[in-house]
Amino acid sequence: MGEIRHLINITDLSVEELEHLMETADDIIAHPEAYHDICAHKKLATLFFEPSTRTRLSFTAAMMELGGNVLGFDQAQSSSSAKGETVADTIIMAGCYADIIAMRHPKEGAPVVGAAKSRVPIINAGDGGHFHPTQTLTDLMTIHRKKGEIGNFTVGLCGDLKYGRTVHSLIEALLRYEGVKYVLIAPEELQLPGYIRDKLDDAGAEYREVTSLDDAIPELDILYMTRIQQERFPSWEEYEKLKDSFILTRKMLDPAKDDMIIMHPLPRVNEIDVDVDDDPRACYFYQALMGKYIRMALILYLLGIK
Ligand code: CP
Repeated sequence: MGEIRHLINITDLSVEELEHLMETADDIIAHPEAYHDICAHKKLATLFFEPSTRTRLSFTAAMMELGGNVLGFDQAQSSSSAKGETVADTIIMAGCYADIIAMRHPKEGAPVVGAAKSRVPIINAGDGGHFHPTQTLTDLMTIHRKKGEIGNFTVGLCGDLKYGRTVHSLIEALLRYEGVKYVLIAPEELQLPGYIRDKLDDAGAEYREVTSLDDAIPELDILYMTRIQQERFPSWEEYEKLKDSFILTRKMLDPAKDDMIIMHPLPRVNEIDVDVDDDPRACYFYQALMGKYIRMALILYLLGIK
């Protein structure tokens, strides 16, 4: 048996591997019937210690569409972690019953602990405010399909850049592509953590930090909105103060480029008005759909199925 591959951080995958996953996902979209039984008798365990709609359901749908089966839990309280079982032991157990594991945990680094003990591939489906690599695969797949190439664009990352793990993973991925300019749109309190800004600096990336979404919109090719992450704030008062920092409305899109795309990892709370949903530039629900196809490609890749 070859070395077990895990996906903890998006940088665990080379650019060539990212390209391979997107090509596979393109092929799945074009020829879904060719993949219907490809994971027959394989099992995916979804271990979700934190709430999820898209990530868990898309992993489940992905494995089902590949002909495999899914087992798992969707909250810590319904697993033996409620009785004090460690993450490492939970992972060892899941590896006895499943061929591959997708796990989400509120603690940063929990999937690394899991991967160190696991006999089957571990996919980080989000660890605290840290990383969310399969959301990044979803984002890259969306950009690839909508823009035709990844690179040579200006992306505005807007909202909670401090706690928003999807932004952290996306920046790490985009730093490996040419010609990406970043406009970081956040209130002072929710700017990027230093360790991610250091990565931008080390890569010599062109970026600026601003507080006005209106001012930034005209220059953007991609607007990536994010939710203010209430669950990671130290106090409710602080969240209340910042929760409506940015609300994208249809009117605000008037000066935007015709081919700008609006992305959001979802869930949205209040940061995109529902009026925007009908704008042809809005592609956040399409983005969620792409999450299923790229996760199908990832499952195949980590299981070593050609
Ligand atoms: N984008 C995302 O991770 O959504 P869920 O929290 O619903 O899985």
